[in-house]
Amino acid sequence: MPVRFIDHPLVSHKMGLLRKKDIDIQSFRELTTEISAILTYEAVRDTVTESCSIHGWSSELTVRHIKDKRITLLPILRAGLGMVNGALSMMPWARVSVMGIYRDEVTLQPVPYYENLVPNIADYTAIILDPMLATGGSVSETVGILKKQGCRKIKGIFLVAAPEGVERLQKDHPDFEIYAAALDEKLNDKGYILPGLGDAGDKIFGTY
Ligand code: PRP
Ligand code: URA
Repeated sequence: MPVRFIDHPLVSHKMGLLRKKDIDIQSFRELTTEISAILTYEAVRDTVTESCSIHGWSSELTVRHIKDKRITLLPILRAGLGMVNGALSMMPWARVSVMGIYRDEVTLQPVPYYENLVPNIADYTAIILDPMLATGGSVSETVGILKKQGCRKIKGIFLVAAPEGVERLQKDHPDFEIYAAALDEKLNDKGYILPGLGDAGDKIFGTY
């Protein structure tokens, strides 16, 4: 499974700001948006382009454009919503599918509760958006649901990944591509990533 941790000074800098304990809601949202744009840029690097002719200001010329724009973003509710604007800033034409899954606080098992996917998702590349890849349960469940619908090209972008989550996805879905801004140390006994960000959904929505 391709796993890429984006090693870039801007990402390191922004992640450092995002990790501050007393960060305010606005800064958390803005940084999440900015980092998500960079992760999206990396995640679509393999997109195929083709040449086409246009009327340039001085002459006819050949330029390149994206051949197949069937890409759907797929935020996992709720925290993944915080990454949508950043991803859309790179690909304003992208469709948005939504997956509602929460993690049971005691068992840490994913609980699906809502799904609204683009029709014919089997024809699309799906890019899952979730700030936190912790045990990997929520994402593994989501990838399983997408595969049942016939979707074959599935990637995910994450602000922070835990080694446990990466390992789980490598086992459950070896073809799933991971792009993350950081690989952290481990999970604590409540399934939170250390050093991590805390509860990303609470920070994005202000529910703390
Ligand atoms: C968080 C996070 C992921 C999930 C990660 O969501 O946004 O979706 O936990 O954990 P996992 O890898 O162990 O499954 P949460 O369930 O807290 O819901 P929220 O987005 O509504 O806050
Ligand atoms: N969900 C979060 O928001 N943070 C974690 O560290 C783990 C799951």
